[in-house]
Amino acid sequence: MSANDSPKGQPSQTYDSAFLKACRREPVPHTPVWFMRQAGRSLPEYRKVREGTAMLESCMRPDLVTEITMQPVRRHNVDAAIFFSDIVVPLKAIGVDLDIKPGVGPVVAQPIRRREDLAQLRDLTPEDVSYVTEAIGMLTGELGSTPLIGFAGAPFTLASYLVEGGPSKNHEHTKALMYGDPQLWADLLDRLAEITSAFLKVQIEAGASAVQLFDSWVGALAPADYRRSVMPASAKVLQSVASYGVPRIHFGVGTGELLGLMGEAGADVVGVDYRVALDEAARRVGPGKALQGNLDPAVLFSTTEAVEAKTDEVLAAAAGLEGHVFNLGHGVLPTTDPEALTRLVDYVHTKTAR
Ligand code: CP3
Repeated sequence: MSANDSPKGQPSQTYDSAFLKACRREPVPHTPVWFMRQAGRSLPEYRKVREGTAMLESCMRPDLVTEITMQPVRRHNVDAAIFFSDIVVPLKAIGVDLDIKPGVGPVVAQPIRRREDLAQLRDLTPEDVSYVTEAIGMLTGELGSTPLIGFAGAPFTLASYLVEGGPSKNHEHTKALMYGDPQLWADLLDRLAEITSAFLKVQIEAGASAVQLFDSWVGALAPADYRRSVMPASAKVLQSVASYGVPRIHFGVGTGELLGLMGEAGADVVGVDYRVALDEAARRVGPGKALQGNLDPAVLFSTTEAVEAKTDEVLAAAAGLEGHVFNLGHGVLPTTDPEALTRLVDYVHTKTAR
């Protein structure tokens, strides 16, 4: 496939969307916008359809996944949809005993800390997640020219849940394993890289036009540890989907010191949280990559004037970038006023129309 061909099965209107053009660092009619966690608790229509259905169960119901993924597209006029699922879905699908507890996050019954625990992690096959293929098939029909972003958790972030047994502030068990048994750690991350690669491939083959690898908690590491103990596994995942030609976005929180390495791991687009301005982030990442970000999600709780002023700052810092996808510096906070998100999309589109 040459660089100018659209990947398999993708309508040319999707290929020519502002979002995919920005990811490819091509000129855009306006700066594209989407939000991490745009589908979720900030929307009353989400809370309504989720009533009585557990989080993981809803991820396995193609009708619900389609409806929830479409909700923010209909409401906010965002430039991309993100597939409604969770980073632990592929782990659940291969039989890891885990659940997502409301207000807490993923909780794992038997944390992985010894070599025998690795037996919990078998390979993922497309049949394990047939509901994902089915949902994406339904979605690409409904989305028309709006691209769908598939995603997965990166090996470090998945490992942090598996090793800690749940969400963690200090990642002490994870780091204890990483420093104390580097071979077991490397084997664990390699297993997770295989599972994550398989999960992303399922989504791309089903019709996702881009993928985002979430390494949400990797900002807990210093660059030298990242390079030695994490980057090989993340690079393996990103490389495994390179031949599809769909943009690969790589994001983490608090990763200011890691931005260059996260780009080097094989991303086409590097996601930036709100702690580093985009012009500075571009210097750290270097040429040849687009950036995504980075309005502080908490700014949306302020006045419209303040939101616009902070958005202007983001757009000014992005002015010299090769490609810019507007997003928040992390996910939409659950109590965000959805109207503020709709106004923000419109503001960015109007301000950047060329
Ligand atoms: O709109 C979207 O962005 C798509 C959906 C999405 C969800 N999870 C839905 C979800 C995505 C991309 C994720 C990824 C995810 N899950 C990450 C990486 C992104 C990030 O925020 O850094 C992480 C770390 C997880 C793990 C996880 N799952 C957490 C921390 C939580 C929140 C727990 C809570 O209740 O506060 C979940 C549950 C979850 N995943 C919810 C949603 C909408 C909330 C569950 C609910 O609505 O009941």
